[in-house]
Amino acid sequence: RGTVRVAVLGCGTVGGALVRLLLEDPEGLADRAGVGLELVGVAVADPTRDRPGVPRALLTGDAAQLVADPTVEVVVELIGGLSPARELVEEALTRGKAVVTANKALVASCGPDLAEKAAAAGVDLLYEAAVAGAIPIIRPLRESLAGERVQRVAGIVNGTTNFVLTRMAEAGEPYEAALAEAQRLGYAERDPTADVGGHDAAQKAAILAGLAFRCAVRDQDVSREGIEGLQAADVAAARRLGFEVKLLAVAEMVDGGAVSVRVHPALVPQEHPLAAVRGAFNAVFVEGQACGELMLYGRGAGGAPTASAVLGDLIDAAWNRLSGTAAPAPVLGPARIQPLAELRCPFYLS
Ligand code: NDP
Ligand code: HSE
Repeated sequence: RGTVRVAVLGCGTVGGALVRLLLEDPEGLADRAGVGLELVGVAVADPTRDRPGVPRALLTGDAAQLVADPTVEVVVELIGGLSPARELVEEALTRGKAVVTANKALVASCGPDLAEKAAAAGVDLLYEAAVAGAIPIIRPLRESLAGERVQRVAGIVNGTTNFVLTRMAEAGEPYEAALAEAQRLGYAERDPTADVGGHDAAQKAAILAGLAFRCAVRDQDVSREGIEGLQAADVAAARRLGFEVKLLAVAEMVDGGAVSVRVHPALVPQEHPLAAVRGAFNAVFVEGQACGELMLYGRGAGGAPTASAVLGDLIDAAWNRLSGTAAPAPVLGPARIQPLAELRCPFYLS
């Protein structure tokens, strides 16, 4: 059995959970995975701070130096945001290292450029955790459904807003109190306006649309409205009429081959499977010509669930490293985006 040397950049909610998964039982993990994963170092902003379960000797404040370490074969980026994440990922790819990331902001803004760099270097760029936490959705869209004519992908892809809307609907809890609890539980982004404003879901919608329709969709192509204007009374009123209010990310093929990509609060009929998705759970509902309807459901946010998806990618990258291959990377053509104003009834999910 081979062993692959791994660097982790970031040791916060997700990075901390991943490091604990890597260190708690390395032999058991290697047996399950069929490959050893040796953690070489963990880069953080403040290496002087204690982190439970993480040996001090592994911590460094110099992420660039860790990426440049010639013995590191796979770099896991869990810092978030665009800079320095982008520079570090580019440097890793240029040096011929595989990259795993959970960073939807990065993938939604420059995924196609990074994918080109990865392809040129013949290495993996994997980002399963960037959309819907623990739920496998990137790999199914990229591989299992590669030949499918996808018609629509509609998902609850932001755990924070679904948690807030559930609390408002079920307990009549005010928006601000529910959001504070989501932050305390580690679901929210560092700046929670990314969640409630729909920016995080828009980044995920762009990634899903790109893979579903094989075109380069970026976050700025996504029409977006968040949940900041909603109150518990609105959510309760919708419920009395037979609907749940959900922040949906929708990507669909419309007439003439254009793609509509949007994020907005939607009235979801209570009979629809997405209406039953509560709390920080996520679900992605895919409609395709041959496959019909599929729904993938699970924990969409939080340290351990997200680290589980990162670990799956890391194991794939390690296998590929040992066999000198890379995961399939679909070529994304140019996207033709349908402006939201031309849609007939965007706020009701049929
Ligand atoms: P956190 O803010 O909890 O952690 C960020 C980590 O990055 C911290 O350990 C921080 O160090 C470190 N860091 C910041 N700047 C630097 C730097 N310049 N060099 C090295 N390390 C640095 O973020 P999360 O763990 O929540 O999120 C990480 C990524 O995962 C993001 O892209 C996020 O969008 C994504 N994600 C998060 C999910 C979640 O539920 N939280 C779910 C799915 C994806 P220090 O600890 O010293 O401050
Ligand atoms: N802040 C994000 C959410 C984390 O609430 O869904 C998972 O991407």
